[in-house]
Amino acid sequence: MNDRQTPPAHPRPGTDRPRLLPSHLRRPVIGAPMAGGPTTPELIAAVAEAGGLGMIGSGYLDAAGTRTEIARVRELTDAPFGVNVFLLDERDSAVALASAGGSEALQRYIEAVGPVAQRLGIELAAAPAFTDFDQDATIAALVDDPVAVVSFTFGIPDPDVVRSLQGVDTAVVVTVAGVADARRAVEAGADWLSVQSAEAGGHRSTTTVGEEPDGISTVELVRAVRRALPEVPFVAAGGISTPEDVAAALEAGADGVQLGTVLLRTPEAGTSALHRAALGDPRFTESRPTRCYTGRYARSLVNRFVAGIDPIAPAAYPHLHLLTGPMRKAAAQAGDVEVPPLWAGSRWRAADAYADRPAAEVVTELWDGAAALP
Ligand SMILES: Cc1cc2nc3c(=O)[nH]c(=O)nc-3n(C[C@H](O)[C@H](O)[C@H](O)COP(=O)(O)O)c2cc1C
Repeated sequence: MNDRQTPPAHPRPGTDRPRLLPSHLRRPVIGAPMAGGPTTPELIAAVAEAGGLGMIGSGYLDAAGTRTEIARVRELTDAPFGVNVFLLDERDSAVALASAGGSEALQRYIEAVGPVAQRLGIELAAAPAFTDFDQDATIAALVDDPVAVVSFTFGIPDPDVVRSLQGVDTAVVVTVAGVADARRAVEAGADWLSVQSAEAGGHRSTTTVGEEPDGISTVELVRAVRRALPEVPFVAAGGISTPEDVAAALEAGADGVQLGTVLLRTPEAGTSALHRAALGDPRFTESRPTRCYTGRYARSLVNRFVAGIDPIAPAAYPHLHLLTGPMRKAAAQAGDVEVPPLWAGSRWRAADAYADRPAAEVVTELWDGAAALP
């Protein structure tokens, strides 16, 4: 394990209060922000109770919804927690869609998913409009009513945004999928990074929609980022489901870990019954990054929808997300496991050992178990 405890000197505008770094946590374990339901206030409080850091996934909430979630977490715990914000860029989305074949590609996709929608009694919207899910208002709300940590996904925040959050003592984290983006995030002023490999469940945080992400493992990516940025604190995310996985990430140079999939089956998580059952179902034998649900690469178990639609899904985010939303909801309500996304990291099978265990125990066992390994 690495033993770097001293945080590097970062500029600290605003007050003298130190911004929260992974090394300040009793257990440097981040409970991943999982937008769309899995991360609940109860899960965040449970991760905090174990000395880790829970994160609200505000990606699909508006500013008012984010404020409500913050209030609910504060009712449950006095411990620090964070909020994750998606950074969407209309121009980038348009560029990606144009190079993926534009409205014709979107039309082909709509035709391919049409029969699925029809079977579920859903009328598909005509090509949906872009939305950025209220990101500027959410950032303004977080400056107005600060939390310990704000992390960004799908982009590098402007230095002005970074400074305004740091000015209210909020640590700014950027989720990066590679070394070049890690450097850019640090140049923009990030306090620390969430370094996310191809093994991660859910979306891969590339900074453009069109990018075809690599297949790098967590250990390889952690090594590369540590070599490039020896002083920058970061946590490793992707396929970390056992004490051995934690130890490997720390050994490779991470300061902490971020857990997603292994927390999905904890009682505190808001994961649907269908998704929970699929994660433990031996019928599913593969998890794969696919654009088929949202237009951005995200790792899911391979059900019939993924197998059939993945080959023709264009780089159209958030268009496909908006288009498939009602269909995914209807399928989940109907108990149809072959349609909705079943987000899962590469090590979802190893996470089986922690199914139904309280989140605080999972955090404690993974972290302390890693320290106790020979
Ligand atoms: C169901 C699910 C939803 C996720 N939603 C988000 C999100 O809203 N924001 C984000 O930054 N990462 C999100 N992620 C990715 C996690 O932050 C993290 O990188 C990933 O879960 C780590 O890999 P693992 O699932 O193998 O542990 C999500 C992951 C899952 C499994």
